[in-house]
Amino acid sequence: MSEDLGFRRLLFLATGALGTAFLPSWIALLKQSYDCEIRLAITAGAKKFVTPTALSAISGNPVSGPGWQEDQSAGAEHLLLAEWSEVVIVFPASLDFCARIAHGLSDDIPTAVVATTEAPVVVAPSAGGASLNKAQSKWMIHRLREHGHHVLDTVSGMSVTTGRLEEGSPVPFAKLLQTLWRLGAVSPNSSTDRVKRAKEKG
Ligand SMILES: Cc1cc2nc3c(=O)[nH]c(=O)nc-3n(C[C@H](O)[C@H](O)[C@H](O)COP(=O)(O)O)c2cc1C
Repeated sequence: MSEDLGFRRLLFLATGALGTAFLPSWIALLKQSYDCEIRLAITAGAKKFVTPTALSAISGNPVSGPGWQEDQSAGAEHLLLAEWSEVVIVFPASLDFCARIAHGLSDDIPTAVVATTEAPVVVAPSAGGASLNKAQSKWMIHRLREHGHHVLDTVSGMSVTTGRLEEGSPVPFAKLLQTLWRLGAVSPNSSTDRVKRAKEKG
């Protein structure tokens, strides 16, 4: 039986961090284990690590981005996605993507979704080495939190490229799930039975 995650409509934004190469497996796992629907929008950088074909086959939905299709007659793609989402997840988030949303840019579909959605946005940065210790990175993370985004602290983890233990890895997927579960319990966006039952109880 599928478990209740706390959110039913999950939008993943895929960015140009190396861990995006593993995203198809996480999406497959989520779909098998939880009662949820998953959509994805990808940045230009994400295409280095994952293909829209794999993501659409695994998620069972068309993949948006980086830019807009010519035909927007059904409505602007980023607005439809922003409205559809109960939660928006950037896992893992490149620093470039974090910087763009910290500045409020909306020059591709993923950033435009973040700029417009009412849903909670969970950001799990992947920094690589000590780059998060730089003043500009600290400013950026602070800014994202000021915007109300849920930014998860990076952890030290085994680098898949160097094999060494390094700072700046994104949180493990299990930790991301814990965050979603916790947020789902309090988010007015959530439509799952667990949240409905909790609201009925008062
Ligand atoms: C092998 C490889 C791994 C990378 N991993 C990361 C990473 O973990 N975090 C990051 O901020 N940038 C990483 N980058 C750099 C980004 O891909 C680059 O900044 C890109 O412009 C980000 O694009 P986006 O805004 O579409 O995410 C990596 C690049 C390469 C080639």
